[in-house]
Amino acid sequence: KKTIRDIDVTGKRVLVRADFNVPLDEEGAIADDTRIRASLPTIRYLCERGARVILCSHLDRPKGEIVERLRLALVANRLSELLDRPVAALRDCIGPEVESAVAAMSDGDIVLLENLRFHPEERADNPSFAEKLADLAEVYVNDAFGASHRAHASVVGVPQHLPAVAGLLLEREVDAFTRILQNPERPFAAVIGGAKVSDKLEVLENIVSRVDLLLIGGGMAATFLASRGYPTGASHVETDRLDDVRRVGENAERRGVRLILPRDVVVAERLEEGASTRVVPATEIPDGRIIADIGPEAADEFSRELGRTRTVVWNGPMGVFEIPEFAEGTRRVAAALANLRGTTVIGGGSTTDAVQRFGLADEMTHVSTGGGAALTMLAGKPLPGVEVLEDAEEP
Ligand code: 3PG
Repeated sequence: KKTIRDIDVTGKRVLVRADFNVPLDEEGAIADDTRIRASLPTIRYLCERGARVILCSHLDRPKGEIVERLRLALVANRLSELLDRPVAALRDCIGPEVESAVAAMSDGDIVLLENLRFHPEERADNPSFAEKLADLAEVYVNDAFGASHRAHASVVGVPQHLPAVAGLLLEREVDAFTRILQNPERPFAAVIGGAKVSDKLEVLENIVSRVDLLLIGGGMAATFLASRGYPTGASHVETDRLDDVRRVGENAERRGVRLILPRDVVVAERLEEGASTRVVPATEIPDGRIIADIGPEAADEFSRELGRTRTVVWNGPMGVFEIPEFAEGTRRVAAALANLRGTTVIGGGSTTDAVQRFGLADEMTHVSTGGGAALTMLAGKPLPGVEVLEDAEEP
């Protein structure tokens, strides 16, 4: 797989697909700029070599029309602060005004095209839209790991028209997941949590064939407990997934993988701040109570087990960590990973939010910027945005 290091970019117009899909707060300001920061190495690399850098991204999910609050000018401003140089925000991503702005660029200049999803053609992977984007540049770079599971025009259409390579973030992300999935140092553990089994089923099915140890936490533990006949109170049980969950258990057993469910859990009547909580054995969840976190004994056991591994991949929080009363299990797992002298990969989305909130992101080997893309990799499935680079024209 070729990256920007393998090509000559000096004086060239380089279209960089980034994932600037950042969370916004109620005032419409950037709530977390992790994804913007993660794209800086590629942008700096290109600028320093005198490329003319044309950035593009989506933001949120506008339905193919202009939404003022989702203009990328706010991302351009943040980028400009972080890079300490001007980043011009264009008012569209294709069309004559964009073409003339690009034609006026000098070596080392940076522009950011408008939110790609203001055009319905982006999600539809419309070929002529892709061609118009491609016409702006001489080289295409995919650095949007977080969007590479989407077969959208800017991800899979454009690279069919230009020499196309990976950016440094895309390379780092794909390498991190590939390494642990294909050649992990053992013992290798996966910690899988989150609210719903259905979001993680393909990940569970793939990961169980690769790990030595599988730890299950979060709300989805309820479906595992129910599949074994235990009462789960008012916890959300995905009844249509009970067989799938049993199959994961059987696979684990057949392969000699230890699958560990929490021994105890924190339960509450409501998943709200100030709700009254109790710690109960996971096999004795009382009527009307919902699993809100793994319990202290489970956290001890998980920490102990993780301490004996050499590689850990973690996807999905152990509880509703956004609420302080239910954050302890997630914090304990994060701490166990932070202390591990081995490889720790945080599989994106809310798990990334959690390790950042606990101030432990820097202690991990890799913290993914992808949500769905990370899940796709953990499920062992190809990313369309990466596959297309393999077939792309040689630079
Ligand atoms: C993400 O946030 O996971 C990516 O930016 C993709 O966004 P999407 O789920 O709206 O396609």
